[in-house]
Order: sequence, then C-alpha cells, then structure tokens
Amino acid sequence: MSIFSFDFNRSSLPDGFFEGACDIHSHLLPGVDDGFPTEEKTLAGLAFMERHGFKKLKMTPHFMKDNPQNTREAIEQKFKAFLDEHGNAVPVELTLGGEYMLDACFPDRFAEGFLTLDKEHTLVLCETSYMMADPMAREMIYQIMLKGYQPVIAHPERYMYAAMPLYKRWKQKDYLLQLNLLSLAGAYGKPARDKARELLKEGLYDYVGSDLHRIENVDQMLAAIRLSTKETDLLAQLLENNKQLA
Ligand SMILES: [Fe+2]
Repeated sequence: MSIFSFDFNRSSLPDGFFEGACDIHSHLLPGVDDGFPTEEKTLAGLAFMERHGFKKLKMTPHFMKDNPQNTREAIEQKFKAFLDEHGNAVPVELTLGGEYMLDACFPDRFAEGFLTLDKEHTLVLCETSYMMADPMAREMIYQIMLKGYQPVIAHPERYMYAAMPLYKRWKQKDYLLQLNLLSLAGAYGKPARDKARELLKEGLYDYVGSDLHRIENVDQMLAAIRLSTKETDLLAQLLENNKQLA
C-alpha cells in the first residue's frame, strides 16, 4: 500500500498552521554540510520558510567526523559572514545551533563547547547512527549530562534499531526527543512515519524540526501529511514548545 494512500480518519494540516512558527533544526547554512550548497539556494530556502509562516529559524549544521572542518569557530565565522553579507535580505530571524553526531569527533566538539538550541546553553541536538545502536553514544551522552547539558535526540523515529521500549528509556533518562516534521509525510519511509505517529500520540516528543536540507518536493511532502485532530493538536503543542527556545 502506498504511504500516500487516503486515510479516512486524518486530514491535511490546516492553512496557516506554521504562522509565527520557529524551526529549531535545519541545514540552511550554505556550503558546510549536505544541506544547502550555495548562498543563493539558502536565500531561496529562507524565503520558502517565510512563505510557510516561519518567523524564526535555527541553522544547525552537522558536526561529525565526515565534516571535520566544521569546528565551532569555523561555523560561527561562516554564520557571521552570511549575516554580514545577506542579513538585510533575510526574511526570518536567524540563530545558530548545531547537530552533533555521537561519533569519534564528538569529544572534540564537547571540549570546545556546544552550539546549543537554547539561550541557557544546555540543550544539545544529538544524532546517532541510523543503522545500529552504539554503546559509546550512550557513554558520550552520560558525560555531557554530568556537565549539565541535556541531549535533544534528533529524529528518533528514523533510527532503525530503536522502538518504543528504547524511546521510553530515553525519556526516563531525561533525554528530550525532536520529531522531524516530514517523517509524518513518509519522507523517510513507512516505518519512520508509523513510529513518528506513535511517539506523537504517546506524548514522547518535546520539539519538532524541519531538518531542511533542500526545498525540492517539500511542498508535496507537507501536503502529504495526514493527521487526526488529536495528532494535529499535539503537533501544534510541539511548535509552541519550539518558541520557548527562540
Ligand atoms: Fe539534521
């Protein structure tokens, strides 16, 4: 059965659903990771988000061993250079964060200080391998929590090794969970979509992000999101939670 098949109990998101919203996860900083490659495309991406109602947006480039050039200092310089050049043309309020892979480069990023999601500098957006659980990842999270940080696990629904018992253990350990919006459209396949719906209904998510890497097909994906009234209300609450980080 197609993931786009009609669902009688669910509807599209209402018009204006993202009006005034704040995005906390995106790859719009140009030319630093697998997201937007050029400043022109970034400006088009920012205009796209503004058209959908977003007022604030956090750029969260990848920090991982595949992008060793992305030190905190390098990313802060690129963010400042982008704002210096294009700040007047940017239609949304921009802030800088990061998405930290729990891999071999994580201790270096920890040592230089994280670019966090919140003004209090405690919330660290973390991701793990999609394929398999890594015991070292758990240890890395333990170490940052000892220093007062709180992990926000990016797109838990996408991890193939993870299911509801693990998600509940994460929440018991005070990890926060961030939904990828387009998981609800089936952008990462039916298993991720079904887990996203279940996590949403169980009230286990704390925040929602676009994880935007490009804008091609995103309108179609947004139109493919089908939620029940209750799920729509729960998603709206996550957008409210996002505003606390703005
Ligand atoms: Fe991401």
